[in-house]
Amino acid sequence: MTQKVKINITVNGVPYEREVEPRLLLSDFIRHDLGLTGTHVGCEHGLCGACTILFDGQSVRSCIMFAVMADGHKIETVESLGTPEHLHPLQEAFMEKHALQCGFCTPGFLMTLVDYLGDNKNPTDEEIREAIDGNFCRCTGYENIVEAVKLAAKKMAAHS
Ligand code: FES
Ligand code: FES
Repeated sequence: MTQKVKINITVNGVPYEREVEPRLLLSDFIRHDLGLTGTHVGCEHGLCGACTILFDGQSVRSCIMFAVMADGHKIETVESLGTPEHLHPLQEAFMEKHALQCGFCTPGFLMTLVDYLGDNKNPTDEEIREAIDGNFCRCTGYENIVEAVKLAAKKMAAHS
């Protein structure tokens, strides 16, 4: 039997102490151990972006990290962004611009973009396309996502 490892992780502001197998993926830890199923798993190879989270404030693919690598770190998942009553400006913009259909890719886009828009307040269409080139969506055709990002940037500027 594999020896378990004790880890301490802060997820969405809540501290957790857990024992995990060394090879447990961070994405599986988030979904199965913590029950935060907003983080989706598509390719499990770091290619589709569905599993994107913030790791110490930076967007990363959680499917290509082990849970033990997050020991002592802070993670934010899509559940941290907003509530149904008080959506994050990015979530509002995605809704208003119809930037999702099935929604499978959406948490990954949101977590990629919340990091990106933190550093890029007024991106051009081209810059937005570059920012999301590691996130795959099989439904929208991306046009509405780009429109949503521009709207979100405006909303976030108005909030700041
Ligand atoms: S599931 Fe992680 S990048 Fe696709
Ligand atoms: S909305 Fe369906 S994959 Fe993006």
